Amino acid sequence: MWTSWWLWALVAVCTGDQFRDEAERIMRGTPVIDGHNDLPWRLLTMFNNRLQIERANLTSLANTHTNIPKLRAGFVGGQFWSAYTPCDTQNKDAVKRTLEQIDVIQRMCQMYPETFVCVTNSAGARRPQPALLTGVRQAFREGRVASLVGVEGGHSIDSSLGVLRTLYRLGMRYLTLTHSCNTPWADNWLVDTGEDKAESQGLSHFGQSVVKEMNRLGVIIDLAHVSVATMKAALRLSTAPVIFSHSSAYSLCQHRRNVPDDVLRLVNQTGSLVMVNFYNDYVSCRQEATLSQVADHLDHIKKVAGAGAVGFGGDFDGVSRLPVGLEDVSKYPDLVAELLRRRWTEAEVRGALANNLLRVFEAVEQVSDHTQSPEEEPIPAAQLQASCRTMYGYSEAPSLHRQPGALLASLTTVLLGLGLL
Ligand SMILES: *[C@@H]1O[C@H](CO)[C@@H](O)[C@H](O)[C@H]1NC(C)=O
Ligand SMILES: *[C@@H]1O[C@H](CO)[C@@H](O)[C@H](O)[C@H]1NC(C)=O
Ligand SMILES: [Zn+2]
Repeated sequence: MWTSWWLWALVAVCTGDQFRDEAERIMRGTPVIDGHNDLPWRLLTMFNNRLQIERANLTSLANTHTNIPKLRAGFVGGQFWSAYTPCDTQNKDAVKRTLEQIDVIQRMCQMYPETFVCVTNSAGARRPQPALLTGVRQAFREGRVASLVGVEGGHSIDSSLGVLRTLYRLGMRYLTLTHSCNTPWADNWLVDTGEDKAESQGLSHFGQSVVKEMNRLGVIIDLAHVSVATMKAALRLSTAPVIFSHSSAYSLCQHRRNVPDDVLRLVNQTGSLVMVNFYNDYVSCRQEATLSQVADHLDHIKKVAGAGAVGFGGDFDGVSRLPVGLEDVSKYPDLVAELLRRRWTEAEVRGALANNLLRVFEAVEQVSDHTQSPEEEPIPAAQLQASCRTMYGYSEAPSLHRQPGALLASLTTVLLGLGLL
C-alpha cells in the first residue's frame, strides 16, 4: 500500500515536469510574442522615463512584473510594448505623451541591445539598414526580444490622419482604436455598460477613414477596449485581420472588456486573433484567479474561434491583480505546460505562442499599399472639442496673424460688397 502511494506520487511529479520540459523545448524554437505589456507606463510613473538612474536598471528592476531576467526565464521573444497615455490627456497633451512613450521604448532598445531589438516588421531577413528594419523572425534567431510599439488608445492620434501616419513612421504597428473613453470617431466598451453614451455607433465616417488608412499603412487594428459595435464595424470594414491585444472570453467572465462569442465567430471568419488578458477581473470576474482559469479562456477561444485565433496578451505591469501561477512574465512556460496537459498539439501551442500573431502581422503587411493615395479628408470641425486647440485649416476667416486694422478693413470690404455701408 505504502509503495503504491509512493509510486503514484512519483509518477505525478514526473508527468508534471514532463509537460514543463516539453513547454521549454517548444519555446526554445518558438518563444512567446505577447500582445500587451505596460512596462513603458511603469517607467514613466516610477522614474519619469529616466532609464539611466540606478533603480531603473532593467536587469535588476524590482516591484514590476517585467524585467530582463524574468523575460529570459519566460522565453519572451516578442513584445508589443504599450505606448499608453490615459484618457484624461485626450484633447490635451495626448500626442506629446504618446511620442514620449515611443521614445522610452526606443531608448530601452538602445540601452540594452543584447536583450531588445526594436523591430517594425515580421521578416526573417536583416535588411540593409540595421536596427529599425530588423524583423521579428530575425530577432528570434538572434535570441533577442523583438520589441514592437502598440499605441493604446485612439485619443493618441488626436483625430488626425497626419498624426496616424507619423506614428506609423515612428514604429507604431498596432493602434487600439479606443482606450476606456470614446474618441470623436469610435466608441469604447463603457458604452456597453451604460457608463458612456454611444456617439459614433461603432465607427463614425471619420473612424472608417482611420481604419482604411491603417490598412493602407500596415498598422494592425486592435479592438481591445472598444464597444461591441466598434468591434463589429471594424471587423466588417478591415481588409486585413485584426487583433484583440489583451482581452479574454466574455462567456467565461461577463466583463465588457472581454470578447463575446458572436464576435469570436467573426474573429474566426476573418482570420483574426484574440490575445488573452491575464487580469483577474477579466479572467474570473473576481479578485482572485488561477493559471488554470486562464487556460479555460484559451480553451474557449480555441473552441469557438479556432486554434489559429488564440494568443497571449498578459497585460503585465498594467494590472494590479494577476492569477496564482502567472505572477510575472517568467511564468509563460507554466501556462504552456498547462495547455500541453490539456492535449493541445505542438502546432497549436506554437500558434498561440507566436505563429498566429505572425500570420496576422504578415497579412496586414500584405494588405498595406504605400502606392495608394493617403486618406486626406479631415474630421469635421464640429466633431472636435476645441477648448485646448487652434482650428487652423478649418476656416476661411481672416488669418489670426493679420492686424486688427486689416481685419477691420476686410470687414468693411465685405459689408460694402453686401451694400450694407
Ligand atoms: C545594469 O546593472 C548591471 C549589473 O547588475 C550592469 O552590468 C549593467 O551595465 C547595468 N546596465 C545599465 C544600462 O546601467
Ligand atoms: C476557423 O474555423 C474553422 C472551422 O472550425 C477552422 O478550420 C479554422 O482553422 C478557424 N480559423 C482560425 C483562424 O483558427
Ligand atoms: Zn488596456
